[in-house]
Amino acid sequence: MENSKVPNHPVSTLQSSFLQACHRLPTDSTPVWFMRQAGRYMPEYRAIREKYSLIEICHHPEIAAEVTLQPVRALGVDAAILFADILLPAIPLGVGLEFAKGEGPVLQNPVRTMEDVMNLRPVNPESDLGYVMDAIRILRGELTDVPLIGFCGAPFTVASYIIEGGSSREFLKTKAMMYSAPEVWHALMEKLSVVLSDYLVAQIRAGAQTVQVFDSWVGALNPQDYEEFVLPYSQKILQDAKKENVPVIHFGTNTTTLLPLMKRAGGDVIGLDWRIPLDDGWKLLGDDVAVQGNLDPTILFAPLPEIKKRVHDILDRANGKPGHIFNLGHGILQNTPVDNVKAVVDIVHEYGIK
Ligand code: CP3
Repeated sequence: MENSKVPNHPVSTLQSSFLQACHRLPTDSTPVWFMRQAGRYMPEYRAIREKYSLIEICHHPEIAAEVTLQPVRALGVDAAILFADILLPAIPLGVGLEFAKGEGPVLQNPVRTMEDVMNLRPVNPESDLGYVMDAIRILRGELTDVPLIGFCGAPFTVASYIIEGGSSREFLKTKAMMYSAPEVWHALMEKLSVVLSDYLVAQIRAGAQTVQVFDSWVGALNPQDYEEFVLPYSQKILQDAKKENVPVIHFGTNTTTLLPLMKRAGGDVIGLDWRIPLDDGWKLLGDDVAVQGNLDPTILFAPLPEIKKRVHDILDRANGKPGHIFNLGHGILQNTPVDNVKAVVDIVHEYGIK
């Protein structure tokens, strides 16, 4: 192992297969973790949610830390992801955030005009989102065997919630701003990229050992629009995080046609969803980047032999090449059987590196 190539990690984490894979170094088995590995499919999480709302959990660092640890204990994954949400920065920005029952996020003061953009408040991550950094500091004291992943939303995906006022299918208001009022769009993206970059850097300085930038909905765009309206802003965040000397994961879905541009924007590791075979996606990206993915989250509802076949297919396609982190192509769905999630961890670890 060429540990000397891994910068600035405490000795305990040099043994981490996850960090090794981020740096495209060989590992004994493929590291595995799951997006949304903490959440409603877990009985331990549901028990806590009976007493606290999602935002209350985030606001209480001890509880957020406890929820972060639940899947680490229950599943044996190779990384922990901080329990938080990509929309938390909307609160200090002044947009408002609420998770309405069964409806997903609601942002009460959506941004639609230049005046709205100018009225966004400046955000100081340590004072305005300090509870997130406190959870990270608690977790670094408690996690001994696996590294901690911090995260933020990418400017496009966060902007889509801030403009639409919640979740969206067509991104009509978002795209309308892009195409009809580009000066408003660019002013909003400029502001968001500064806030999100400061927030991510604060997480790294608090102890996050890797960070993931979630551009979950960017696949709604064609490559030309991505390059003009999104790439420079994602690039700022990814580059600022990179300067802090931790591996950076750049994730999106529906991104088959965007992969080369996402790579140009940045990231040591690029997320692949399930719509492209892992080896084809890696070929499009090139050998000088690691990949993360790419099991369809709905496969976790299938019988075990089918799950095993699909997991093996992905590992066969990775073909033992250093730099593959096993994950789903998107987050774990509600009602996913916990035993099947645990089974995937075991199947990946048992497969080893062939
Ligand atoms: O375990 C982990 O992955 C860490 C925690 C985490 C949450 N949200 C907690 C959460 C992470 C990494 C996120 C990221 C996030 N949040 C994304 C990007 C990832 C993705 O799935 O695309 C997005 C788009 C959001 C915004 C968001 N948060 C939506 C649209 C919703 C509602 C939809 C839903 O699943 O109910 C949330 C709520 C949310 N954030 C939950 C969790 C565990 C739902 C559970 C609850 O209400 O307790």
